[in-house]
Amino acid sequence: MNVKIKAENLVKIYGNKTGKALDLFRQGLSRNDILKETGLTLGVAGVNFEIIEGEIFVIIGLSGSGKSTLLRCINGLLMPTAGSLVVDGKAVEKLDGRELRKLRGEKISMVFQHFALLPNRSIMDNVAFGLELRGIPTDERRKRAQKALVSVGLEGWQNSFPSELSGGMQQRVGLARALVTDSDIMLMDEPFGALDAIIRMDMQEELINLQARIKKTIVFVTHDLDEALRLGDRIAIMRDGVIEQIGTADEILSNPANEYVEKFLQGIDVSKILDASSISKWPREVMRETESVSVALHKMKVADTDYLFVLDPMKHLVGMILEEDLLLLANKKEKSIRSIIKEARAIKSDTVMRDVYPELRQAEKDLAVIDDEGHFLGVITQYTLLVTLEERKGGDGIAEH
Ligand SMILES: Nc1ncnc2c1ncn2[C@@H]1O[C@H](COP(=O)(O)OP(=O)(O)OP(=O)(O)O)[C@@H](O)[C@H]1O
Ligand SMILES: [Mg+2]
Repeated sequence: MNVKIKAENLVKIYGNKTGKALDLFRQGLSRNDILKETGLTLGVAGVNFEIIEGEIFVIIGLSGSGKSTLLRCINGLLMPTAGSLVVDGKAVEKLDGRELRKLRGEKISMVFQHFALLPNRSIMDNVAFGLELRGIPTDERRKRAQKALVSVGLEGWQNSFPSELSGGMQQRVGLARALVTDSDIMLMDEPFGALDAIIRMDMQEELINLQARIKKTIVFVTHDLDEALRLGDRIAIMRDGVIEQIGTADEILSNPANEYVEKFLQGIDVSKILDASSISKWPREVMRETESVSVALHKMKVADTDYLFVLDPMKHLVGMILEEDLLLLANKKEKSIRSIIKEARAIKSDTVMRDVYPELRQAEKDLAVIDDEGHFLGVITQYTLLVTLEERKGGDGIAEH
């Protein structure tokens, strides 16, 4: 495992004459006291971490906790007041102007929540803008911009203008812009913060899929816990300039480092986030293998569905039957459903939420949830997933109909 980015006792104090503030920090004064004494803000208060090449490292914390400050230290927009920030083995604070420009222009790209697309330029030219600034010839930058547009699912939009695109699509353009430079590090500062819940989930999924192909090192800032849990290979929880805990979602949820982290995670029912069983529901009807074609048709009608899961007497999942196959059997006056039982897509009850969503997207029908012995526990539908997420967001939810 290659360490791509490393922070060593990194301190960032905003302001010019930071000497006194730094002394006070070293004496152990709090952020508030330092502010009172010197008028200077301690943005990052001595953090240590290593970000591994190819991982999505999420930084989460309340507003003002220092997330953006940390990001700006990584790309050298801010210089550490003390300590060191190392990218690819080189301390950013020791780079000269030319090396810094190279770091920002080639090695690192950024995506923000609010970034301006140039309204009078086509999507293509917006994406290629960074390359243009670097003097890359028209043909090449168009080719690269086109490739980036394809990878974010915006093929065919290259000649449109920003005003013709939805918010989600504009955010994809932002992503394409970051991809086009082919940098190996992507810094993303609340890139999906302005999107509504459903589009946001799409974008998260898109990012996961994209990452599987491009394998960049991604530092992703958010203050949405769901987003952090879904995206982060590892997550750092920040508070008042300090990192309270770094770990995988499982590590943090099952073993919070301190009371603050525990509180931070509160309001979410951990089991709800953690696994599939907690959001699965028993379907209105299920089939037994031994039941007949006419019973199946009746049950489908009652449950208003075009498929049913089939269970054995011990409630093991056997498979599923589809209405279209059933109708063929009915025409042939057959009684047994056995010949049309198909394999059903199923996930284990302890599948974590971040893995449920892509599975559900691929499932032709709803997703069956089973335990280790193959017992059927229920189904997850696109609908239940959305409702659960909405409820947990504290939103209006989606009205039952
Ligand atoms: N340019 C600046 N000059 C002075 N203080 C700043 C500056 N930028 C940020 N700060 C302060 O540093 C602290 C950390 O800010 P930062 O923007 O890193 O937080 P954040 O975690 O990104 O918050 P948010 O979630 O609101 O974006 C805050 O107290 C903020 O007021
Ligand atoms: Mg910020």
